[in-house]
Order: sequence, then structure tokens, then C-alpha cells
Amino acid sequence: MKKVLLILLALAMVFSLAACGNGADDSDSGNSSNGEASGNENGETKVITVSTKFVDDEQTAISLKNVVEAVNERSDGSLELQLFTSGVLPIGKDGMEQIIQGSDWILVEGVNFLGDYVPDYNAITGPFLYSTFDEYFAMMQTDLVQNLNQQIEEEHGVKVLSLDWVFGFRSMMTNEPITTPEDMNGMNIRVPTSQLYTYTIEAMGGNPVSMPYPDTYAAIQQGVIDGVEGSIMTYYGTQQYENVKEYSLTNHLLGVSAVSISTSLWDSLTEEQQTIIVEEFEKGAEENLEETVKAEEEYEELLKEEGVTFHEVDAAAFLAAAEPVYSKFPQWTPGIYEEILEELEKIKADQ
Ligand code: G3P
Repeated sequence: MKKVLLILLALAMVFSLAACGNGADDSDSGNSSNGEASGNENGETKVITVSTKFVDDEQTAISLKNVVEAVNERSDGSLELQLFTSGVLPIGKDGMEQIIQGSDWILVEGVNFLGDYVPDYNAITGPFLYSTFDEYFAMMQTDLVQNLNQQIEEEHGVKVLSLDWVFGFRSMMTNEPITTPEDMNGMNIRVPTSQLYTYTIEAMGGNPVSMPYPDTYAAIQQGVIDGVEGSIMTYYGTQQYENVKEYSLTNHLLGVSAVSISTSLWDSLTEEQQTIIVEEFEKGAEENLEETVKAEEEYEELLKEEGVTFHEVDAAAFLAAAEPVYSKFPQWTPGIYEEILEELEKIKADQ
């Protein structure tokens, strides 16, 4: 009963938000609103919500807006993707729940939320695994990861459209500088609602506090947390520099989003619609990457102008501190960590 109410509530929000224009710019959607749309062969338009935590100023949201516009235009009115940013609709665990229930929904969220269903996704995005984006991208192409995508599709009805929406390595934005794990003792650090993040921050010396990102701005101001961990993109895009001015370069996890859709929705689409969606999300990921890499340098300068100080950290100490995280997941496939390290060695040798 509770679930039914939640679904009804979410649907009501979709309709009311779409009606009052809080989602993507309807006038750009290339659908029936501009009078040119023809719909599918039955003249129907499939409306799909695209939900994400990113705020409009962040590159991921900008690239998603472009994807949505391109899909709507190319589908000639048979598809209408509606983008909802800033977590105004369910994100995180609740967003995944929409996919699992087969809603007309695409979720752009941390890969770790797939890990709630197939725990090995946490292993492939664990702390201090990758030192470059390219290493991560190469890992996503391995059979090991492709098999996880197959598993979540077969066992949970989740089709993973992409794992490639990176938004930078995550470091610590706090009110005090951090150089060693000891510096994090007693610090309340916001993390996404994910065991991987909780264990990582705990191992690194801090007190993890789980909450959705959109709640963090007020939480820092109210003194509930001392900071958050996140990328330069997040720092600048969400204007967190107004609250905390110390950025300590732990680079402990890679900020990366998965794009997921339910298999039942996916199977209901025509082959042509599927191709359009796949191709446009792929293009979007490339644009997102290119622009993110460019913006990182620019944002570093802008953050400094806003009074942010960047700090190098004792990287070896943090690496050692985070090591125990890999033995904290009894639900991981035995030997998966060793397998990942082997793959990583091959990847590094090839690059
Ligand atoms: O806008 C929020 C985004 O940049 C980061 O969200 O939950 O991955 O920390 P999260």
C-alpha cells in the first residue's frame, strides 16, 4: 500500500512539475508543442522522466539537457524525455526504486546505487582504484563489468545504458584543511547514501553522514556537517565555496554516474527509439567528459578567486587507511578485488 502511494505521489509530481515547467525546457523538446511532431505510428508520444541530482549549472546537467533535446528531436515526437535536475524527483535509492518498479524513468545516478542490487558494482568503483579517467573507462569495457551489466539486467530488470558519465575525482571540501587521516577525526562529512562511501570516509578517519546532495548546502550552514566530499565540478557548480573554503586533494573516489532504465520500459520501445537513446546518451557522455576536463582547470582558478585554498595531502597515508574497505563487503564475489587489480594491471600496461 505504501509503495502504491509512493508511485502515485511520484506520478503526481511528474505531471505537476511538467505542467509548471520545472523540468527541461519544454519549448526545446521538438515534440508536439512546436506543431511539427508526428508521434509514433499510432500518433502516441512516450513520455519518459530523466531524473538526476545535478544542478543546472553542472556540466552533467548541461549535457543531459542536450541529450534530451536531441532524443526528442530525432524521435520526431514519438519520444518525449523530460529532464528533472537538482533532485526535485526521486534520485539515489528512491530513483533506483522507480527503475526496479518499471516506471517510465531514466535515472542518472552514482554507479554505487547499482551496487545495492549487484554488490560487485561497488568493487569496481572502490577507493583509490583509478588514477585516470581512461583507466576507469577501460575497466568498464572488460568482460568483468559487462557481466555485471548482464546480471543486473537479468536479475533485477535494470538496463544499464552507460557507466561513463564522469564528473571528476572526489576530494574533501571542508571548513578546516586536511593533510592526514588524523585531520579528519571528529569531522562530520556528508556522503551519498551508500555503504561504499560510508566505509571509505570512516576508514579515512572522518564521521560519514549520509544525505542526498541537495540537502548539503543547508546542512553545512546549520553546522550539521563540517563539509562534503566531491569533485571540483560539484564544488563550483553547487556553489559550496560559499560555505567551505578548504579543498584537500584526497582524490579518494571517482565521481561517475550510471544511466539506467527499466528493462520493461526498454523492451516496450521500438528498435529505432532504442538506437536514438543509446546513441544520444553516448554522445552526451563524450561531451560531458570533454567539457568536464576543460572546466576542471577553469573551476580551480575560479574557486581560488572565491577564496578557496587547495591542499595536497599525504596520499600514501590515505591509501593505507582506505585499504580495509575492500574487506568490508562479504556480499562481493570472492576474489573480485584481486580480479579487478589484475585487469587494472593489464589496462595500465596497455595505456
Ligand atoms: O549536484 C550534486 C553532484 O555534483 C554530486 O552529488 O551525491 O554524487 O555527491 P553526489
